[in-house]
Amino acid sequence: MSALLSDEQIAAFSRDGFLAIPDFMGAETRSAVRQRAVDLVNAWEPSGENTVFTTEEQERVSNHEFLSSGGKIWCFFEEEAFDERGELRQSKELSINKIGHAQHDLDDVFEEATYTSDLAQIASDIGMADALALQSMYIFKQPGIGGEVNCHQDGTFLYTDPLSVTGFWFAIEDATLENGCLWAAPGGHKAPLRKLFRRLGTDDDGTTFEELDDTPLPDPAKDLFPLEVPAGTMVILNGKLPHWSDVNRSPVSRHAYTLHCISGSADYPDWNWLQRPEDMPLRRLDRSDRR
Ligand code: FE2
Repeated sequence: MSALLSDEQIAAFSRDGFLAIPDFMGAETRSAVRQRAVDLVNAWEPSGENTVFTTEEQERVSNHEFLSSGGKIWCFFEEEAFDERGELRQSKELSINKIGHAQHDLDDVFEEATYTSDLAQIASDIGMADALALQSMYIFKQPGIGGEVNCHQDGTFLYTDPLSVTGFWFAIEDATLENGCLWAAPGGHKAPLRKLFRRLGTDDDGTTFEELDDTPLPDPAKDLFPLEVPAGTMVILNGKLPHWSDVNRSPVSRHAYTLHCISGSADYPDWNWLQRPEDMPLRRLDRSDRR
């Protein structure tokens, strides 16, 4: 296939570290993905429902759920979603933070929205002809309880040597200043990776941050640029680009789907928090590994 991105778009991506591509995901796909996400949540039985959680117990359970979710479809609830008896304060659909992290390989609707020839071509246009689909998240960004996402670099959480993680962020609904759109630091990917997020052991021993560089991350209040985009837009994010999103102050949700890919030729250390079961190898975005 021939390139989908123009030379100007490729140059802008390497200059800014991000690129917005309007009208990438069609209305039909958006609505199918949104509906499947809502169905997954409605079918979900939160673990520990109706049980009393101590903070410690909750932490241990959260750690296990999180650290084993690389090969699963898991529903993560907002921190404040449960009351002290472990019951939801509001409906499940309004209590969920995100679904992760392998629905692109375990759910047919997400799979179809992810492994497209257009996305594989765009990955190739930006130098990732051997992209592997590592992680997917469906993010709800709830009105009222949808929290801020701290300024971070994706390479901190999904590290490869050499660094290759690239984010593909799809606006399922319009993303605006009011409902917590993405913000990014143009050119910020040219500064070093600040931190690594590492597993302390192979099981549920927890995680830690290791500092690599003490240059402060950009200040969201003054150094970041808002990426207000209409539904259907795909934003590509370099893995070293500092980005952030605010709380959702609007009365409506701000759904987004994200996919993180890595280069097939890069080394993926076993201390990354996200590990896939052995029988679930990563698949190439272009599905040239299909048998
Ligand atoms: Fe991110």
